Amino acid sequence: MLITTKKLLITARAKKYAVPALNINDLEALKAIMFAAEKMRSPIIIQTSEGAIHYAGMNYLIAMIRVAAKEKVPVVMHLDHGKDLKIIKQAIQNGYTSVMYDGSALPYNENVRNTKKVITWARAKGVSVEAELGAIAGIEDFVTVKERDAHLTDPKQALAFAQTTKCDSLAVAIGTSHGAYKFKGQTHIDIDRLKEIAKVVKIPIVLHGASGVMEDVKALAEHYGAKIGAARGVLDKDIAQAIKHGVAKVNIDTDLRLAFTAGVREAIHDLPKVIDPRKLLEPGNLLMREVAMRKMTLFKSSGKA
Ligand code: G3H
Ligand code: 13P
Ligand code: ZN
Repeated sequence: MLITTKKLLITARAKKYAVPALNINDLEALKAIMFAAEKMRSPIIIQTSEGAIHYAGMNYLIAMIRVAAKEKVPVVMHLDHGKDLKIIKQAIQNGYTSVMYDGSALPYNENVRNTKKVITWARAKGVSVEAELGAIAGIEDFVTVKERDAHLTDPKQALAFAQTTKCDSLAVAIGTSHGAYKFKGQTHIDIDRLKEIAKVVKIPIVLHGASGVMEDVKALAEHYGAKIGAARGVLDKDIAQAIKHGVAKVNIDTDLRLAFTAGVREAIHDLPKVIDPRKLLEPGNLLMREVAMRKMTLFKSSGKA
């Protein structure tokens, strides 16, 4: 069943679980995620970035997700990190049920203005809107930790932003970043800041950059040749804390990428005589299923569909 994010995330925040928002670029990831969602009875947000749209084509992605939505569990078709207003408009017109407008790199007033514009288009079609405030970026993007922290979401500004824009959910920066190399030393997620935000912002909060870079998956990838020694992700205990304090949507892409490529590396190594791509992709698919199911357990979305 294809649904929007609005009610789904309000319920999740109230009941202190989070809906997994998993990125896809192709059928392999979509099939693995849908297997996991059906098996775990978890609602699921299938999200495609602008990069995914450039890679696969919006129409192919929409067609695939529409088929996935014929399964029993609730499915959201979400645009992840929409920055190009033309792509956002197209997504809304073509059947996405939820879009993110990411104006986080713009000056505050411009972010507000564009978010409001997207909300006007979205409301006309009953589409939900996620907005973003603060920089979800790695420490390498800043010279010092102090400088990075200055770009984290300010609770007071978050309240003003949510009230002015009337967005349905808000992505905040509390120390996570995208990709596999999130932390140089100790992991540090600012849960106190999240608590302050959650005290005043009552709409569902979204956590980006939430991959854990799971030890066993990383070890398998490295065993079969990946050079990712410095990769480090968010701790499961921090994700659990974040969900306790208002996070209702958790975005994961890197962990699925790592799982898929680890499985494919293993197959290519172990099956040198095989040229059937289906056989070489299958172990990657099985590992993605497993990672998706582990997230559904961690986020407590399992059994909520
Ligand atoms: O937030 C970014 C997602 O991981 C998507 O990445 O732009 O490479 O598709 P991408
Ligand atoms: P990761 O890179 O940690 O998986 O984050 C994905 C994400 O935030 C997509 O919007
Ligand atoms: Zn993101």
